[in-house]
Amino acid sequence: MRVRGRNLAIGLAVLPFLVVFIAWTGFFNVAASTGHWKITEWFLHFAMRSSIRNYALWVDVPNQLPREGLQPAAGHFARGCAICHGAPGEPRSAAALAMLPQPPDLAGVVETWKDGELFRIVKHGVRYTGMPAWPTQARDDEVWAMVAFLRHLPSMEPVTYRALVHTEAPTRQGQTPGCEGVLTECSRCHGVDGMGRSPLTPPIAGQSEIYLLETLRAYADGRRPSGIMQLSVQAVDRLHLPALARHFSALPRKTRVSDQNDGAMRGEVIARRGRPTDNVPACSGCHEGSARNPVYPDIEGQSALYIATQLRLFREGQRGGTRFSPIMQSAARRLSDEDIADVAAYFSQLAPKH
Ligand code: HEC
Ligand code: HEC
Ligand code: HEC
Repeated sequence: MRVRGRNLAIGLAVLPFLVVFIAWTGFFNVAASTGHWKITEWFLHFAMRSSIRNYALWVDVPNQLPREGLQPAAGHFARGCAICHGAPGEPRSAAALAMLPQPPDLAGVVETWKDGELFRIVKHGVRYTGMPAWPTQARDDEVWAMVAFLRHLPSMEPVTYRALVHTEAPTRQGQTPGCEGVLTECSRCHGVDGMGRSPLTPPIAGQSEIYLLETLRAYADGRRPSGIMQLSVQAVDRLHLPALARHFSALPRKTRVSDQNDGAMRGEVIARRGRPTDNVPACSGCHEGSARNPVYPDIEGQSALYIATQLRLFREGQRGGTRFSPIMQSAARRLSDEDIADVAAYFSQLAPKH
């Protein structure tokens, strides 16, 4: 008995060296071209599905998937996912089909996953498969927008998809020198007029040029977390950023129809006077008037949903930005959910100054 126990211990101690030795001989075939054995393939998928099902138990699933982010999610899909998974009307490329494991056509598989599971896959990616994680782990709202988009995918017609991810090309005359070729990328979501094609995409037309430039650099360096904007800006040469900021800043800021009116009067009181008892500062001191710091953005006429989303991110310390963003983080720290809804309603109703 004792001898057997000793043999077992020696066997266990030698095993790792044996495995390293076999790996060193080059016996294992790592070629993707020959595929996996059926049993290996079954085992890997079994392990992946079990892991995702398990970790998805900790995901806080919203009652309703947000619809407002469908357009930017589709735009992100076109740049960041279609290259492997294909898209409505766009079959997967030969390179994607030669990957191991092969990225599936998602229209055929999303129904096999629950919302929380899709969230888990899109946010964290899948190890050893080539399926990447979301570009930032700092916020979940964009990932949920992508899950909502994936739910629409199986029934989405190619024309609907194309309308979501493309706009008419900007005309040559309308382009600021230095922006050639890159405006099409931005117009996908911001529109040729720079007013934003969804309530979550802010109007950048007529916004302060220096704010736009510093913000684009903040996205490029990861100082302002947004998977959607980071992917897009990182695809553009940094040398183009000043021209892009100049271009959008020079476009006329149009008036949008406000999407939220309730609470605007309460919001106006906070905006003008703040709430000194709670150390909530007056917003207007920094956001209105022409004498303010030019890096502070114009927020009049942004959608209530965009303003509220950004305020929540500031409050939770997840909204970076220019070198002045810590000021705004402390301004938002003591806002309640109701305050946020009220000030968002107030500023969304104001006509832009330009
Ligand atoms: C570099 C290629 C690549 C990119 C880019 C990519 N994926 Fe994947 N994806 C994969 C691979 C490979 C798998 C794993 C397939 C497997 O083992 O079943 C996968 C799996 C998935 C799955 C699980 C489907 C299933 O049943 O296996 C979903 C959902 C998914 N990807 C969504 C996305 C989304 C959304 C994006 C863009 C944000 C994206 N992927 C970007 C390669 C990619
Ligand atoms: C796939 C959709 C998409 C594309 C493509 C895109 N954007 Fe954005 N953009 C967004 C969304 C969504 C936001 C809000 C992100 C956030 O919450 O920080 C945003 C935010 C911005 C902001 C911040 C504005 C503010 O008021 O703080 C700027 C500036 C901007 N985008 C410029 C650009 C430029 C320039 C391009 C082209 C290189 C571009 N975007 C491409 C969707 C997109
Ligand atoms: C002390 C100055 C200051 C005060 C007070 C202030 N802000 Fe700001 N705010 C800023 C700065 C600076 C930024 C830009 C942060 C960045 O992206 O770098 C900003 C950004 C914002 C943004 C994001 C705009 C965009 O385009 O993304 C919103 C929304 C906003 N503020 C709303 C408010 C509201 C509502 C209040 C009042 C409760 C307020 N701010 C008070 C300085 C201030």
